[in-house]
Amino acid sequence: MQTQDLVGIITYGDEMKENILEKINQAPDTEPERQYYFMELAKELVEEKSKEAGRKLTFCVVTFGCQMNARDSEKLEGILEHAGYEKSEDEHSDFVIYNTCTVRENANLRVYGRLGNLNRLKQKNPHMMIGLCGCMMQEPHVVEKLKKSYRFVNLVFGTHNIYKFAELLVQSLVQKTMVIDIWKDTDKIVENLPVDRKYSFKSGVNIMFGCNNFCSYCIVPYVRGRERSRNPKDILREIEHLVEDGVKEVMLLGQNVNSYGKNLEDPITFAQLLEEIVKIDGLERVRFMTSHPKDLSDELIEVMGNYPKICNHLHLPLQSGSTKILKVMNRRYTKEQYLELVEKIRRAVPGISLTTDIIVGFPGETEEDFDETLDVVRKVRYDSAFTFIYSKRSGTPAAVMEDQVPADVIKVRFDRLLKEVQTISAQEVGRLTGTVQEVLVEGMNDHDPTLVTGRMTNNLLVHFPGDESMIGSLRQVSLDTCKGFYYMGTERK
Ligand code: 5AD
Ligand code: SF4
Repeated sequence: MQTQDLVGIITYGDEMKENILEKINQAPDTEPERQYYFMELAKELVEEKSKEAGRKLTFCVVTFGCQMNARDSEKLEGILEHAGYEKSEDEHSDFVIYNTCTVRENANLRVYGRLGNLNRLKQKNPHMMIGLCGCMMQEPHVVEKLKKSYRFVNLVFGTHNIYKFAELLVQSLVQKTMVIDIWKDTDKIVENLPVDRKYSFKSGVNIMFGCNNFCSYCIVPYVRGRERSRNPKDILREIEHLVEDGVKEVMLLGQNVNSYGKNLEDPITFAQLLEEIVKIDGLERVRFMTSHPKDLSDELIEVMGNYPKICNHLHLPLQSGSTKILKVMNRRYTKEQYLELVEKIRRAVPGISLTTDIIVGFPGETEEDFDETLDVVRKVRYDSAFTFIYSKRSGTPAAVMEDQVPADVIKVRFDRLLKEVQTISAQEVGRLTGTVQEVLVEGMNDHDPTLVTGRMTNNLLVHFPGDESMIGSLRQVSLDTCKGFYYMGTERK
């Protein structure tokens, strides 16, 4: 970077410009030291900007998509707070970041729509900066479009270099033009960066990044790269620190947690990792997401049955009940294998709550194929299911398949599926009525200030009389009535 490239955004004097350049050039090469160095530098720059504005500067990170993105956003927030920005939930902020998702097309459309609004806000606030990151940015056509039609965006980066956000933040605080840094892939995992957790008592923990499965409809392997597992020691240390900090429940995150550890220098299975994690004193609950049926081992099922700390819930994406469609989807299991797996899990972990993802209208799906999906739904009787209309993602094999199903046909099937899923769920969810269950209190009830809201190990919500002091604690609650997707209860003291 040259002095003449420097901004702009803050009216730095020439001397300060020289000074900043020199500091940037002196950054250490090793991580995470380099990022901590840039956080300090960002702090100086933000302070300067804040003086100019005559107030504290604020940030707002908006998360689209899955739990992985939610966790990434907590990392961005940690760095922004370190740099001296104040957190806000409002997009009328001085730094707004959209952490995007691209798994279905309407996720992309929503981002473009909202960017128009942000531009209007930016025109009114000379200090405002806009950043975009996440999966959508890994698509070259998106970046082209941003360069051409959304020039007001200050910073664009992808999923592989999120660890260097502090460095990119400094760059965008001083550079006149849009800062763009997208990597195709990486094998790098940087540990020990700051995180601003949304909840004090529960936290996501990444155990792996990327996906090697290439389901034919899915864009994730293209935007999140190849599978990389974190070192078990790093994961255990992170969880131990979280527990020391008051965390009771962790959610282990990965696109395909069941293949955790396969590519490590000293390979370890996901089940072995879980066995180590449950030993951590003070940790009360462990969840994980997402499991691919093809990789869910007997060893894991046994471990799930053996340790009460492992939550009584499994999200097991079905995608389709038709063996023919599953084959074209490249899921590598049949309808029968899926059903056998469900039976095995239910035998080992009685009462487990099963949830799933289903796609309707994959290319070539006939009425008979769709009936197979309904059949699995009726046999498994999921507690809940996320149902998706197939969305064509360019670059994936399914996008160029013949026999794309017409939208009106998909709509009819989708409505039928939704109805079936909801009917079954309403019958299943109530099965714990009258029992006493352990509930982790997550917060005050949104509508009634005399109630608190908590979650059972099966992931269902319970509302019961209580107060703020109970947040983050585990309580024994009697489930009095089931209201469809949640329970009303009373604490057993
Ligand atoms: N169209 C519709 N749904 C999709 N999913 C992934 N890709 C697509 C697509 N192209 C769904 C799958 C996955 C969930 C996270 O999103 O069901 O499990
Ligand atoms: Fe996508 Fe399949 Fe990987 Fe899940 S397992 S992220 S659906 S490719």
